[in-house]
Amino acid sequence: MQSALNIIGEDLTLVEQQFRKDLQSDVPLIRKVGEYVLSSGGKRVRPALLLLAARLCGYTADKAVPLASVIEFIHTATLLHDDVVDSATLRRGLASANTLWGNEASVLVGDFLFSKSFSLMVRVGSLDILRVLSDATTVIAEGEVMQLLCTGEIDLTEERYINVVRSKTAILMSAACEAGAILGAAQQSQQRALADFGMDLGIAFQLMDDILDYVATEEEFGKSIGHDLEEGKITLPLIYTLRLCSDSERTVIAAVVEQDEMSLDDFRTVSGIVRQYGGIAYTIETARFYIDRCKGHLGLFAPSPVRDALLSLSEYVVTRSK
Ligand code: IPE
Ligand code: IPE
Ligand code: MG
Ligand code: MG
Repeated sequence: MQSALNIIGEDLTLVEQQFRKDLQSDVPLIRKVGEYVLSSGGKRVRPALLLLAARLCGYTADKAVPLASVIEFIHTATLLHDDVVDSATLRRGLASANTLWGNEASVLVGDFLFSKSFSLMVRVGSLDILRVLSDATTVIAEGEVMQLLCTGEIDLTEERYINVVRSKTAILMSAACEAGAILGAAQQSQQRALADFGMDLGIAFQLMDDILDYVATEEEFGKSIGHDLEEGKITLPLIYTLRLCSDSERTVIAAVVEQDEMSLDDFRTVSGIVRQYGGIAYTIETARFYIDRCKGHLGLFAPSPVRDALLSLSEYVVTRSK
């Protein structure tokens, strides 16, 4: 992460200023909720990807910062909606917006951020970038609906799950990288390589998020631990475990998945089974597989400090604790 910050640190500061500006609205509640979420300290991985991809393709002009701000707008909108859908109470170590202002306000401010993103994209003036980012937002919505349909599905396969992950999370990282490549007027093959890089990185990113939901501490992660299980989300650590565990363990897991409320004891029981069968280790291995493949896509670019920064950002994804 540090090598990325050395290169794009200043631009990221400009991105922060940009999205404060972009948040302006005559409706005070929009400013309030928007400011709250945007100031609560996200990792800014997606803007960083866009800025680095643009630099890697030689782009140095002034459209990367506003576009990076748009990417964070889209991400923030999905988080506002996602926390309503997931009944989340904690986000970035603070009370989630839906907890403070209610579901209605969260959904509507999320809508504002989405719509605003489109106005801002149009201003950038590239039809190709507009296509990539608008397609991505459609796919994210599909991913969230697919996830909803998979809720509580104890027989969910790894393949279907990875498809959900590709749609709900990885596509935006892929689009961020591809948009950067388009800004830099890179060759088709390089645009493709960066889009694939973002896709594999995004899959690994979500798999690590799923692991952290089992093993992190709430203080560090900034989100509630065990929340996926409580919400009936069958993520890769559990999918792998369900493949190997005994019938009686499967019955125990199914009961916890079906319950509306989950006790700490329930969580400890299930996470104990998950660890026992190596569900966490397997998911780390799988994330590692995607990160190795993701790094491979950069083979098309000559070695440079920017390429190194993208490589170390990939490494950060599989070692992060928040
Ligand atoms: C959270 O994304 C949603 C997932 C895709 C797991 P981040 O972990 O990037 O969230 P912030 O922006 O850093 O809080
Ligand atoms: C994130 O999935 C996907 C989107 C925000 C679209 P999660 O539901 O796992 O993300 P967190 O854990 O709430 O951040
Ligand atoms: Mg969620
Ligand atoms: Mg999660």
